[in-house]
Amino acid sequence: MAISSTDIRQQFIDFFQKKEHQFVRSSSVVPHEDPTLLFTNAGMNQFKPYFMGLQTPESRRAVNSQKCIRVSGKHNDLEEVGVDDYHHTFFEMLGNWSFGDYYKKEAISWAWELLTEVWTLEKDRLWVSIFQDDDESGDLWKEHTDIHPNRILKFGHKDNFWEMGDTGPCGPCTEIHYYTGDDPDKQSAEGVNALAEYREIWNLVFIQYNRDGEGNLHELPEKHVDTGAGFERIVAILNGKSSNYETDLFIPILDKIVEISGKSLEINDGIPHRVIADHVRMLAFSLADGAMPGNEGRGYVLRRVLRRAARFGRMLEMKDPFIYKLVNTLSGVMCSAFPELKEKQKHVKKVIKAEESSFNETLDRGL
Ligand code: GLY
Repeated sequence: MAISSTDIRQQFIDFFQKKEHQFVRSSSVVPHEDPTLLFTNAGMNQFKPYFMGLQTPESRRAVNSQKCIRVSGKHNDLEEVGVDDYHHTFFEMLGNWSFGDYYKKEAISWAWELLTEVWTLEKDRLWVSIFQDDDESGDLWKEHTDIHPNRILKFGHKDNFWEMGDTGPCGPCTEIHYYTGDDPDKQSAEGVNALAEYREIWNLVFIQYNRDGEGNLHELPEKHVDTGAGFERIVAILNGKSSNYETDLFIPILDKIVEISGKSLEINDGIPHRVIADHVRMLAFSLADGAMPGNEGRGYVLRRVLRRAARFGRMLEMKDPFIYKLVNTLSGVMCSAFPELKEKQKHVKKVIKAEESSFNETLDRGL
């Protein structure tokens, strides 16, 4: 039986609340207070001042589901979107946080407990990667979980040292990957960080340094835990689906695109439908959080994403504004977790429609 995305999000929050984590609402996807970022690109952005010792948190343990956008800067997944099954411009990152409280042992053993005992994922589909110099994490995986030692792999800086941008809090990480392929007997270590069937589902970052503007690392006064689990990927896996688009987060939007366009998901392997379904999420959440399309910076990214969705709409022969017609469906899917979508629905639709109309005029004049 299908488990709804709403239940899965809640199960994550409940699990960590039972371990004395305080629930914290997602921060805005538009980081109005961080000049180093155009969009919130990770759950840890709002907690930067705690990691850097500039502010004291209300609670030293937190849990949340953060709205994230990765279409610019260090983390940019745009070209993969819609072509593969699991990259998005907008996604939710589930996270548990320690601000100078617990560290590697608890982060590792709780992640394993949630995945294998609460969500009962098959252990022989799970793989773990650790930073090449972080033997401590490797030992903790062996001592505090029952993962097979052959499933613990070492990788270098590119895969297992996490940084939100060119500067800021950062550190080594251990990632959990899930084999989504059809034949578990065909698994091999070479697939991890190489093949799409081996999907990274959760990144446990051990924040230990701050990188300054010159690129130097400085030890932070305390050590912290920053985890990010890909919500859409977990929803797919817990429902036995290999694609995030086959979950209740996307199906209603894809259905609506089929209804509006009259074009089935068979056209171009469903890529146009999927790109549009992805992009409307990015657009609606950014606009609801106060971004506006424009000619530079954040506004320009928004404009490009909207135009990209409109061009994919043309592949489905949609020449009139249509993206705004998907907003109510999206609100229906997401507003229980993010009521701002319903509250700002009228504004979001109005801005999208105006922007689509002017882009269509430009296209139709052949410019
Ligand atoms: N901060 C962890 C991640 O974004 O993967």
